[in-house]
Amino acid sequence: MKPLLIVANLKSNKTLGEAREWLETISKIKDRKFSNQKKIIVCPPFTLLQIFRDFILENNLPIELGSQNISHFPQGAYTGEINGAQIKDFANYTLVGHSERRGSFGEDESVVEEKVRMSIDYGLTPILCIQNIDNKIFQGVSIVAYEPVFAIGTGRPDTPQDASEISKKIKDKSKLEYFLYGGSVSADNVRSFTETEGLDGVLVGTDSLDAEKFISIVNNA
Ligand code: PGA
Repeated sequence: MKPLLIVANLKSNKTLGEAREWLETISKIKDRKFSNQKKIIVCPPFTLLQIFRDFILENNLPIELGSQNISHFPQGAYTGEINGAQIKDFANYTLVGHSERRGSFGEDESVVEEKVRMSIDYGLTPILCIQNIDNKIFQGVSIVAYEPVFAIGTGRPDTPQDASEISKKIKDKSKLEYFLYGGSVSADNVRSFTETEGLDGVLVGTDSLDAEKFISIVNNA
């Protein structure tokens, strides 16, 4: 059976010092015997990818890395952008199309499509975030995270049943390996999602910021 995917999105949080503390706490995860059934992907800010990578390697932690964003341009004269080749030095995954990118940074479906293409071109696996059934699932995408806007950061998750229905509809029309649910996932509710048919994992924002809470989510998933 394929492992559950548990993705942490740290968003625009953590200084270097705070990241070190988070990593020290999370390294307890090494003693758990779940690595075959659960796969953990952490998406820190760009500024922290290097220390995350080094810490994970030095401590042999069962954690993979993703970025939270990717430039839709290649290497070159694009001030302030981080491109796929640069991300690939540190990570194997990237979030694409998060509602905060679509909403606060004006990323429309065509930009999201470019970002998916860039990820694949640079050997990264995109985790395509969708907010509803109308979002496009672009060619080459194998991981989708359904994150309805009303559930993000509100403490009011969607129901596992809703998420399961959306999963069925999306999986009927595209060939996906993973369909994740995201939006107010906590240690208390994670199992209700991961035990529901059609849901292959979760994407966690707020409750991944506290490393102890995130460990509980992984344990309970
Ligand atoms: P949340 O965020 O867990 O704080 O709702 C999820 C996300 O935006 O990825």
